[in-house]
Parts: sequence; structure tokens; C-alpha cells
Amino acid sequence: MKNEILSHLPPEHPWGQSLYWYEELPSTNALAKDMAREGAPHGTVLLADSQSAGRGRLGRSFCSPPGSGIYLSVILRPNCPPDELMHLTCAVGVAACDAIADAAGFRPGIKWINDLVADGKKLGGILTELVMEGGIVRSAVVGIGINCCQMPRDFPPELQNIACSLFSVTGQTVDRAKLAAALIGHLEIMSRQLQERSAIMARYRRDCVTLGKEITVIAGDLRRNGRALAVEEDGGLLVQFEDGTVATVQSGEVSVRGLFGYT
Ligand code: BTN
Repeated sequence: MKNEILSHLPPEHPWGQSLYWYEELPSTNALAKDMAREGAPHGTVLLADSQSAGRGRLGRSFCSPPGSGIYLSVILRPNCPPDELMHLTCAVGVAACDAIADAAGFRPGIKWINDLVADGKKLGGILTELVMEGGIVRSAVVGIGINCCQMPRDFPPELQNIACSLFSVTGQTVDRAKLAAALIGHLEIMSRQLQERSAIMARYRRDCVTLGKEITVIAGDLRRNGRALAVEEDGGLLVQFEDGTVATVQSGEVSVRGLFGYT
């Protein structure tokens, strides 16, 4: 698989030298964080055919069966304070949409803040984890999971109504190596353009399907209905709640569901 992925990248691609492929891992993000602490360079890419303990946001798991998806983590070394990286997950979301558009021929949407969606269902997700040292981000591990080959019945029962795959959306088998290479290509470009926050956020807002929607904001056991008004420059979601109050919610604290469905 590694050679297949490399065959879709230009031979001189800066991240081609530090690409690792595994048949199975607990979690590519967990291993990438360990490797980052041990000094692995910017652009180290880890891919696994399956994960036994794939991780999602807010302590959730990410279903990662073999032969079915893309499970990729990349180590970035931005060397800046964390408040300059608030838009990183948004930038990764746009890069993932670019890659899927190139490799699968359609552009998914993004459900705030980090879910890739198509046909009102979850196609994949992004988990960004920072490794800090003395108030500086020593590294950011960006993890992307994309469901590629599953049929609806392949998902566990609790996901069958809310998950989809590139195959279930397009009816076509996607070349996973080509998609992995497209992700690596777009993530590398994104990592060089991270300073262009306004341009990135403008693109994110175009892809974000949550904007203008009736949503439920979920924080632990608390659920509040409202309308998503805007995505701010740091990725925060401006919400008008049913009682008329307007507040910004941050991705570390809450998740969002559509009032009338998953998105
Ligand atoms: C989410 O849906 O909340 C985020 C899912 C992120 C899954 C990817 S798969 C590759 C990387 N390794 C992990 O353990 N998680 C991320």
C-alpha cells in the first residue's frame, strides 16, 4: 500500500520520505503523538489499514475496520502559540474536502466543527491534538478518518442511520491509495498556508453545512436549541438560542446536531 500511495505523489514530495504504513494500530493519532514527543519531523505521516482503538473528538471512538477506510495522522511542527492555531481543524477540514473532491469526484460538506458529511450523514472526522511545551505548540497531530468502502449494513447498528461512506454516496469504489495521496498533497499545501487565516476561514464557511441551520448544542447532559449564525475567525460557532441570547460556542466544549437530523 505504501508504494501505491507514493506512486500517486510526485517523487520529490517533501512528506514522501517520512510515510509509514501499518496493517493495524490501536490509533494512528496515539502513535503519532508518541513519535512527535520523540522528535519525529514535521510531515511525518502514519496510515493504518485498521485501528483497534480509533479515537474521535470528546472522548468518542472512531470505527476503523480493515479494508474499509483511510485512517491517517500527520505530525505538524508549527512552533507557535496555541491561539494562532485555533483555525487548524477548519483548515484540515477544507484540505480533506479538496482531497475527496480530487479522488472521489464530489465535494463533501463539513458539519461544525470537524465532521465530513454527505447526504446528511457522517463520512469521516478530524481529530487535532496538540503536544505543548512551555506554552508553545511543539507539534500538532492531525488525524483524519474517512469511511471509504462500507455498505450501510457494514456499520454497527448505532451508526447505520448517521454514517455513510464514499461508496455508499457515489456507488463507485474509491482508490484508497489515490485518496491517501490526495490527502497528503492537500495537507502539505495547507501546512504552508496556515498563516492565511481569513482566506482559510472563508473557504471553511463555504463548506460548512451547519451555517444557518437549526441546531442542538450538546454539552454533557445539557441540550439547547438554536440557530447557527456564523463561524468566527477562530472557528467558534456563533449561535442564537431559543431564548434570544447569542453566544459563541467552542469546539472543545460542545457538539452540535441538526434539529431535524444528524447534520
Ligand atoms: C471524530 O469523528 O470526532 C474524529 C475522528 C478522527 C478519526 C481519525 S482516524 C485517524 C486518526 N487516529 C485516531 O485514532 N483518530 C483519528
